[in-house]
Order: sequence, then C-alpha cells, then structure tokens
Amino acid sequence: MTAPLNVGIIGTGIFARDDHLPAYQKHPEHFKVAAAFNRTRAKALDFAKIAGIPDSKVYDSLDAILGDKDIDFVDALLPVQFNVPTLQKAVAAGKPMIIEKPIAATMAQAREFVKIAEATDVPVAIAENWLQLKFVAEAKKHIQRIGRIVGFSYNFTGPNSKTGKYKTTSWRAHAEHVGGSLSDGGVHQIAVLTDLLGDCESVSAFTTNVDTEDTMPDAVFAVMKMKSGAVGNYTYGTRFGATKKSIYVKIYGAEGTVYLDLNNRDAPTITVNIGDCKENAKKEEVYTVQQENTYGVGDEMLNFYEAVSKKDKTLIRATPRVAFHHLACIDAFVKSSDNNGNNVKVETV
Ligand SMILES: NC(=O)c1ccc[n+]([C@@H]2O[C@H](COP(=O)([O-])OP(=O)(O)OC[C@H]3O[C@@H](n4cnc5c(N)ncnc54)[C@H](OP(=O)(O)O)[C@@H]3O)[C@@H](O)[C@H]2O)c1
Repeated sequence: MTAPLNVGIIGTGIFARDDHLPAYQKHPEHFKVAAAFNRTRAKALDFAKIAGIPDSKVYDSLDAILGDKDIDFVDALLPVQFNVPTLQKAVAAGKPMIIEKPIAATMAQAREFVKIAEATDVPVAIAENWLQLKFVAEAKKHIQRIGRIVGFSYNFTGPNSKTGKYKTTSWRAHAEHVGGSLSDGGVHQIAVLTDLLGDCESVSAFTTNVDTEDTMPDAVFAVMKMKSGAVGNYTYGTRFGATKKSIYVKIYGAEGTVYLDLNNRDAPTITVNIGDCKENAKKEEVYTVQQENTYGVGDEMLNFYEAVSKKDKTLIRATPRVAFHHLACIDAFVKSSDNNGNNVKVETV
C-alpha cells in the first residue's frame, strides 16, 4: 500500500473546517491533513487541533507552507481575489494545488489563472464539487435518449437567511468577485448545466437586488444560448423572501424530456419521458440517485489524488479552463444586465 499524500491547508475558515477536512478524513488511505496556514494564526491553531496537526506544522506564511518538503499538495480556500497570487507562488514552489471556486474574482484574473496553470506541469484543480455529483453522470445517459436538445429550464432559488454561517464572512459582504453571490454559488449551477449540455455561447439577462443595500446583484433571470443551439432560461437567487428552496433542471428534447429534481440533497431524482409526442409517450421512468454525503467534495479530492500521485494533470476534471467558462457565464449575465438585457457573447479563453 502506498503512503497517503500529505495535504497543506491554506485558509482554515468555515469550508476548510466543515467540509474539506471531514472529506479528507474519510479517506485516510489517500490523505493526511498535515500542515496549515491561515492569516489569523489562532484560527489555524484551532484547525490544527481538530485535524491532529502538530503546532510545528502551523505556518505563518504562504511561502513557509509551500516550502515544506513533506507536503505533497496544498488545498487553498481563500477569498478568490487571492487565487492568482496563491497560484503563482504554488507553481513557483512546484507544489500541486487544488483551490476553491470561483476560479478568480474578475475575468482578467481568471484569464491570468488559466495562462499560468496551463504553462506548468504542476497539477492545478479548481474545487468545483458539483462537477463530481453522481446525478450529473446519470442524467447524461438519459439526455442522450431524448433526441435533439431544444431547450432547458434551470432553477436554483431559495430564501434569504439572516443567520447562515457564510453570512458573516466579510469578504462576501464586501464582495470583489464578479456578481457577488451570483458567482459564489452560481458557478456550481453553471458547472452542472454546462456539464449536461455543453458550453454557452451568449446570454441575455437581467440581474436584480432583493437586498437593496447590497452593491452587488443577488438574483439573475437569464436566457442562455448554448453552443449546441439549445436555448433555455436560468434563474438563480438565494436571497428571496420566505420561499421553499427549489432546485430543478428540465431538459427538452425533440423526442422526450429529462427532469432533474435536486431538492433532496442525498437522493435527487431524474424523471425521464420518452416519445416524440403525447400519443407515442412511453411509460415514465424515475431514477433516484444516492448521493454520497460530502456532496462531491470527497470525489474532487480523490480526482486530485489521482492526478498528483500519477503526476498527470490531464486527469483533472475541474480544470482552470473549465472553471473559466463558468465564471465567464456569470460575467456575461452581469454585462448583459448592465446593457439593458442586450445579448452578450460569453468570453472564451
Ligand atoms: N465549494 C463550495 O461549495 C464552497 C462553499 C463555501 C466556500 N467555498 C469557498 O471556500 C473559500 C473559503 O470560504 P469560507 O466560506 O470558508 O470563508 P471564510 O470562513 O471566511 O474563510 C476564508 C479564509 O481566507 C482567509 N483570508 C481572508 N482574507 C484574507 C487575506 N486578505 N489574506 C489571506 N487570507 C485571507 C481567512 O483568514 P482569517 O481567519 O484571517 O479571516 C479565512 O481563513 C472561498 O473561496 C469560497 O468560495 C466553497
């Protein structure tokens, strides 16, 4: 048996503690969380206690953790305006890195990120856990059965929360990332949509503010034209007044439909209707997908493990280039809305 890879955590905030650490701990044969660095050292020390990291491996600088020869790769969970400088240092140190989404705060930074990542053999992945979800792979099989894809409807809406754990993070309250919450959570939805249907070519959108004190928009109502020719609507917002959380994707084909109900996190369902018209409709099929409870985080770590242990960055699913497209769609929503809903081409890299 080969030894587990030693992981260094950069940014020991909420998601590092509540999601990444438990996901690593579920796979002790593959990972050992072995070092940490955080801007506020006290929080790194707290994290180290939970993770079983000795104080000697709690570092005071990015350079120091990147310079630790025992660390096989780093996992960075920072406000994303720091992603490019963190990548520059990791690549210079020859340290593989998985880093949290969105890829960057602006399109210029995202472009720079892709350029740096693609110019090195050091494996670099974006932690887009929704790309690893099992229902996506299952849905793709059925999408192939419904003929030419004509359109879709993608909805992710939910109520505002005044007490949610992410609410208090100052970098979200004073967001520098494109579209604020539209990209923070929205890149996951664009990841699913484009994984199912391919890349988006152009959008027409209006964003709005439920929270009128926020300088960033917090909801978007968009029409998207995919490169395949399919057209659909995309609705995203998590700060509405009281409402039931509603996450679904309906995909319309010339010979049927596929409907994904994602409201049950652990057991999403896929409903398939086959037939070119009502009269020829076959019996409805319903599939329930058992989703492992780290919601793709464990699988993204395992994907990165493979790339790092085999020294093969081509094995990475959530590449910077893929993640660039997700942010580019959100950027196009914002630009379209700023331009009175005019159609905007999605930037390519
Ligand atoms: N995939 C997902 O579903 C998901 C979910 C949640 C979050 N995330 C991502 O995870 C990352 C962290 O989010 P979070 O919710 O865990 O936020 P958080 O708790 O605020 O953690 C942010 C971390 O970054 C550090 N930091 C803040 N400003 C910094 C600066 N100027 N220089 C260096 N370090 C700085 C913070 O250090 P201090 O302790 O000193 O403040 C903290 O450790 C973000 O990229 C976010 O997009 C992903």
